[in-house]
Amino acid sequence: MDTRQFPEGFLWGAATSAYQIEGAWNDDGKGESIWDRFAHRPYNILNGDTGDMACDHYHRMPQDVALMKELGLQTYRFSISWPRVLPQGRGAINGQGLDFYDRLVDNLLADDIIPNATLNHWDYPQALQDAGGWSNRDSVDWFTDYACVIFDRLGDRVALWCPHNEPWVIAFVGYAWGSLAPGICDYSQAYQTVHHLLLSHGKTVQLFRHGGYKGQIGAVLNLGHFIPASESEADRDACQRAYEENVALFLDPLFKGCYPEMLFDWIGSHAPRVEAGDMALINQPIDFLGVNYYHTNTVSYSLLDGLLKVDSAPVSAPGWGQTEMGWGINPPGLTSVLLNIKDNYDNPTMYVTENGCALEDAPDENGFVTDWGRVNFLRAHFRAAHDALQAGANLHGYYVWSLLDNFEWSMGYRPRFGLVNVDYETGTRTPKQSARWYSEVIARNGVNE
Ligand code: FCB
Repeated sequence: MDTRQFPEGFLWGAATSAYQIEGAWNDDGKGESIWDRFAHRPYNILNGDTGDMACDHYHRMPQDVALMKELGLQTYRFSISWPRVLPQGRGAINGQGLDFYDRLVDNLLADDIIPNATLNHWDYPQALQDAGGWSNRDSVDWFTDYACVIFDRLGDRVALWCPHNEPWVIAFVGYAWGSLAPGICDYSQAYQTVHHLLLSHGKTVQLFRHGGYKGQIGAVLNLGHFIPASESEADRDACQRAYEENVALFLDPLFKGCYPEMLFDWIGSHAPRVEAGDMALINQPIDFLGVNYYHTNTVSYSLLDGLLKVDSAPVSAPGWGQTEMGWGINPPGLTSVLLNIKDNYDNPTMYVTENGCALEDAPDENGFVTDWGRVNFLRAHFRAAHDALQAGANLHGYYVWSLLDNFEWSMGYRPRFGLVNVDYETGTRTPKQSARWYSEVIARNGVNE
């Protein structure tokens, strides 16, 4: 059988985030995060689940790194819990918290696994939320002070840095829809949050350069593919608005130093306050762009749908169903996303920093999951990434979401995204069929045609 070979040096890995796997929510001096607060409030999370225990990775980290080694992962994307390191978000450092990440990085390096660290994967310190959170402009300095604490400790060993994971989700799902922490419903705050996240990104990149740290620094965005539901002008305009809010709202300032005009005309007074010099600060050269790809949507004009008046529906590629989350499965959408960045943003170095699926896994009596559905999903997406590479996209690696089954935010523990099954009663980890298959992909640096 023909193999689609990936370029030499292409990196294969898996991703997780702190709140979703660590547990130990108040151990060893950790402060409260907005996710602790949000999950402890009734009705926010399916079945009343919380991340209090999660995968107990905080206590099982060495075994989890050993598992990564066993699977042959070349790189691991994790996040650092800000309130574990700075319990109040600023001020006193919690040495035990910082030591944990120090050990994690050393364990990874000892096993030749390249560390890729995200500073903010949503578990923001509650103390700073109480002081206004991301809608307060001071949040920019709070974040960069935290970033410097981490750089000073880990900057000699971490190869790849991402300041924020998916700022769109933080701003819109957290501050406009209120469905994720901090649970605020206010579009003006959401747009202000976008601006402050981007500003803090730019300032972090600048400080990182001045500090002379060894690694590379980029940005991680959730980038979907959007298709107008019809050829009507109303649907095409609606699609453009959806694209601008989800994609251009971040890529334009990062790569071009401006916000998308049509969107800003549309949202009017909800647009953020931008001060002189802000756009130049955001528009720092970055070393790579991380693409989290899950969605292709058709978009139509919908009079009753929110500020943008858009309705978007997941669309699967022909022959594909949906995931357990009700998300469409659309591998060619990934090719389109990567090629859009290549064509319109100067083909930066890219990584797929997240892609994966939740399926209804059925472990056998030994905890083994025969998840050919996940294998098919991943194979098709790897091929789609390969298509983009062949068309010239500057793609350097791929992280599967996720290493472990974990706490999937408001959906709690029901969705299982892992390559590795986790028995939440016992903590036992059992690699699934997809993990075995992925190990072979990594070893061959290729997938079957
Ligand atoms: C992404 C998040 C990640 C995970 C996946 C399924 O939006 O970054 O934490 O929840 O979705």
